[in-house]
Amino acid sequence: MPKLSIAVFASGGGTNLQSLLDSSKKGAFDGEITAVISNNSGAYALERARNAGIATYHISGKKFPERDRFVEEILKTLEKHNVNLIVLAGYMKLLPLEVVKTYRNRILNIHPALLPKYGGKGMYGINVHKAVIESGDRISGATVHFVDEIFDHGVILIQRTVPVLPGDDPETLAARVLKVEHKILPKAVSMFA
Ligand code: GRF
Repeated sequence: MPKLSIAVFASGGGTNLQSLLDSSKKGAFDGEITAVISNNSGAYALERARNAGIATYHISGKKFPERDRFVEEILKTLEKHNVNLIVLAGYMKLLPLEVVKTYRNRILNIHPALLPKYGGKGMYGINVHKAVIESGDRISGATVHFVDEIFDHGVILIQRTVPVLPGDDPETLAARVLKVEHKILPKAVSMFA
């Protein structure tokens, strides 16, 4: 019985989820992804999970407008799979406080910049890389950190840098950072395990 039962929350394309799925198959960490949860029913991340035979759940504020029901739905799903590690992999929402409290020190997030710089509200996706380029910084990178009640704020577990090149635009920088994300997220999970 693998040590870790991992729930992944994703809102978008799910390439970070895919890197976890591939690493799990290679035995990179002693754990298995048992549930994938998205606030976006059209997220390709859900398709990736279905292709891998993993249980998928669409849990969103729209679907569960009653906040208590929304929180209960998340907690119920996590309990159902005996989850002991939550990974936010491109999840665009703030986890409810009740979930952060119940799973304190068992929630990881991947962020496409070198936190604490370029983190916090509004700093997600391409906005991050735009800000890095506009700042004139010569390096960027990715961060995996523990999640607490504040966006992009918890203790950092692993970071890796990439150069910002003279001809970069936000898209070319995003692609370079994403490659590093795919390396450090599975590494962070195996460190946690
Ligand atoms: C990644 O850049 C991640 O750092 C950010 O959102 C993006 C998710 O990409 N949080 P994907 O959905 O894993 O491809």
